[in-house]
Amino acid sequence: MSSKAPIIGRLAVIGLGLIGGSFAKGLRQSGLCHEVVGCDPDPATCRVAVSLGIVDIMTDDLAEAVQGADLIMLAVPVLAMERVLGQLATLDIGQAVITDAGSTKSAVVDAVRNAFGRIPPHFVPGHPIAGSERSGVEAADAGLFRNHKVILTPLEETAETSLALVRRAWQAVGADVEDMRLADHDEVLAATSHLPHLLAFSLVDTLASRSENLEIFRYAAGGFRDFTRIAASDPVMWRDVFLANRDAVLRSLDDFTHDLSRLRAAVEEGDANALLGVFTRARSAREHFSKILARRAYMEPMQTQSINFIANPGASVQGRIRVPGDKSISHRSIMLGSLAEGVTEVEGFLEGEDSLATLQAFRDMGVVIEGPDHGRVTINGVGLHGLQAPPGPIYVGNSGTSMRLLAGLLAGQTFTTELTGDASLTKRPMGRVANPLREMGANIDTGEEGRPPLHIKGAESHLKGMDYVMPMASAQVKSCLLLAGLYAEGSTSVTEPAPTRDHTERMLKGFGYPVQVEGATATVDSGHKLTGCKIDVPADISSAAFFMVAASIAEGSDLTLEHVGINPTRIGVINILRAMGGDITLSNEREVGGEPVADVRVRYAPLKGIEIPEDQVPLAIDEFPVLFIAAACAEGRTILRGAEELRVKESDRIQVMADGLQLLGIKAEPTSDGIIIEGGVMGGATVDSHMDHRIAMSFAIASLRATADICITDCIHVATSFPGFIDLARSVGINIRQEDNA
Ligand code: S3P
Repeated sequence: MSSKAPIIGRLAVIGLGLIGGSFAKGLRQSGLCHEVVGCDPDPATCRVAVSLGIVDIMTDDLAEAVQGADLIMLAVPVLAMERVLGQLATLDIGQAVITDAGSTKSAVVDAVRNAFGRIPPHFVPGHPIAGSERSGVEAADAGLFRNHKVILTPLEETAETSLALVRRAWQAVGADVEDMRLADHDEVLAATSHLPHLLAFSLVDTLASRSENLEIFRYAAGGFRDFTRIAASDPVMWRDVFLANRDAVLRSLDDFTHDLSRLRAAVEEGDANALLGVFTRARSAREHFSKILARRAYMEPMQTQSINFIANPGASVQGRIRVPGDKSISHRSIMLGSLAEGVTEVEGFLEGEDSLATLQAFRDMGVVIEGPDHGRVTINGVGLHGLQAPPGPIYVGNSGTSMRLLAGLLAGQTFTTELTGDASLTKRPMGRVANPLREMGANIDTGEEGRPPLHIKGAESHLKGMDYVMPMASAQVKSCLLLAGLYAEGSTSVTEPAPTRDHTERMLKGFGYPVQVEGATATVDSGHKLTGCKIDVPADISSAAFFMVAASIAEGSDLTLEHVGINPTRIGVINILRAMGGDITLSNEREVGGEPVADVRVRYAPLKGIEIPEDQVPLAIDEFPVLFIAAACAEGRTILRGAEELRVKESDRIQVMADGLQLLGIKAEPTSDGIIIEGGVMGGATVDSHMDHRIAMSFAIASLRATADICITDCIHVATSFPGFIDLARSVGINIRQEDNA
C-alpha cells in the first residue's frame, strides 16, 4: 500500500492546542486519513481550526468526535486526561486505537487504568519531543514533528497492530519514532526536558520579581535569551507536567540542587579549579551533544553518517607540511599529566577522536583539563591517587590504546569502572591485558572471548608487581602493565620479544618517575611520584608515512615533512622505504622533551620489492597498509612475514589490504602472518576501508599511481588519527575529495 492511500478512515483529535493542532494538520496533509475531526470545548479554537484547514470538522462533543473513529489522539493537558478518559470509557468506540501525546507517561497510563479498569490492547502511549514557544491552535504547524523524535512506550497489553498504526501515523508527519520503556521515559524526560523548563521559568521569574520594573530585560544579553527561551512555553501544560511527573522531576532537581550548591561554594571560596572543572566538562559534553544533534538531523540539512573519499589518478606531491601530533604520545601526555602533581602544559596535542577519548575519560574522572586549543592542552594533575570514580562507563570509541592503557591504570584505583568502545573496538582482543593484570591481582571481567567491555573492580584488586614476559611485541600491553606497576606492591618488569615503541618509559622519566630499562626489560617500582612538566608532541610518523609513500611513488615529487618524531622504535617505515630504494633524507635533527625529531625530505625514486626484515615489523606496525601500496608500485616482489598482529588491528589489515589491492589489479596473496605482493599497474575501483582509518588513507595514496579513480568507502574513522587529512593531501597536490552520505 502506498503511504499516500488513506489507511485511517476517521481520525479524532481531542484537544486542539499546538500539539493536537499540528498532528491534525500534518496528518490531514499527508493523505493518510480520510477525515480529521477535532474536539475542543473552546468555541474560538473550533472556529480557527476549521478556518485554517487544520481539521475537516470541529465539535465540542466527545461522543460525536469519536463516533466511527479508527484512531483517537488525546492531546489534552496531562491532568485533563483522567476526565477525558473517564468519559471515553463510557462510550462505544469499537476497535478504535487510542493514543496520546502527554509529556509524562506513567500518569497517563494510570489514568487509562482507572478509567477502563485495565489497559485496553488498543491503547498506545506516546510522546512527541517537539514543541514551540508559541502555543494554541493558531500556532499549529504541519511540519512541527518533521525530524523530531516521537517516543512510544508500548505496554505488555498493547496489540502489535495498534502500535504499528500509531507508528505509521507519526511517520506520516515526518517523525522519527522510537520505542522506550515507560519508566525510562519519565526519568529521561524529567532530566532533559522538565528540569530545564523549571529552571528557565524560575530564572525569569527571579529576575522579573527582583527588579523594580522590567527594564532589566532591555539589557539581557544573548545568553539570557538563549537560556530562557523555553520560559515562554504554555504554563498550564507545564504545571500539569510537574504535578504528573513529580517523583522523577524531584530526583533530577535534587541532583541539580546538589551540584549547584557545590558551584556556589566554589564561587564563594574562589575555587578556580572546581569552576574550571565543571565548565570544561560541561563544554565538551555540550560539543559532543551538538554533534549528536547534527547527526540525528534535528538540525535539518546535516545528516552525515558515512563518508567516502574519491581520489583521481596522477599528480605529484610538493611542498613543506606538518602532519598532526603523535597519537601514542598524545594519549600518554593526558594520562601521565593527570597522574602528576602540578600542571602539565602540552603542545602539538593530536585533536583526533582517539586521543580526545582519553582526554574525556580523565575529565570524567575529575581531572581539570583546559583545551585543546590549537594543540595546546593544560592538565591540572591530581596526583597518582587523586582520580575520582567516573559517573558512568568510560566510552573510548575506536581507540584500542585508550582501552588497553587505561585498563592498567584503572586496576590500581579504589573504584570500579567499565570501559566500553565502538563496534570495531568491541571485536578486539583485551585478554592480552586482562590476563597479565589478573596475574598481578586485578579483578577484571571482560565480555565474551576476552573482548570489551571491561569491568575493572579497583577496590577488589590488590596489585602485586611481577616479571612478565610478553608473548607478543605490543607497546600497549607493555604500557598497560607499567602503568599498573605504579600502583603495585614491589616492582613490575615487562620483557618484550622485540623492541616496541618506548614512549611510556621516556615520558615517565620526563615526569621524574624512575624507570629502569635493561635490554628488553623495563621495570618500575611503586612509591614514587610524577611531577607536572612541559610536553612538545612531535608530528606523528604514522601520519607522515602516508606522505612519505606518496612522494616516493609519484614521479616528480619532492616533499618535506616537518618536526616528525623519529624515535628509533618508530622508524621502521623509513628503514623499509630506504631498503626499497626510497630517497629519504633527515635534517634539523634535535630532541624535544625526550623524543628525537627531524624534518624528513622525500623525493620520488623508483622502488624495488624486498623481503622485509622481521626485526622491522614492530617498528613499522601501523605503517604496513601504506607500505603495501609502496610494494604494489615497486618493481618485483615484496614479502612480509612475522606480522600476524596486523590481523587484530582496527581491521584485519592483511586481508583487507589484500582484497583492496586485488580489486585494483595487483597480485596480493595473504599468508597467515603476512603478505606477498607483486608490483604492477593499478587500475581504479571502489574499495571498502572496513571503517579502518589507515586503510582508507592508504588507498587514497594509491591513487597517485592508479590509472583510474579510486573510491574508498566508510572513511569516517580517518578523524580518529588524522583530522584534516583531505585538506592537507590536497594542499600538496593530491586530487582527492570527500563525499558525505546521509
Ligand atoms: C600503540 C601501540 C601499537 C600500535 C597502536 C598504538 C601505542 O599497538 O599499533 O596504534 O600507542 O602503544 P600494539 O601494542 O597492539 O602493537
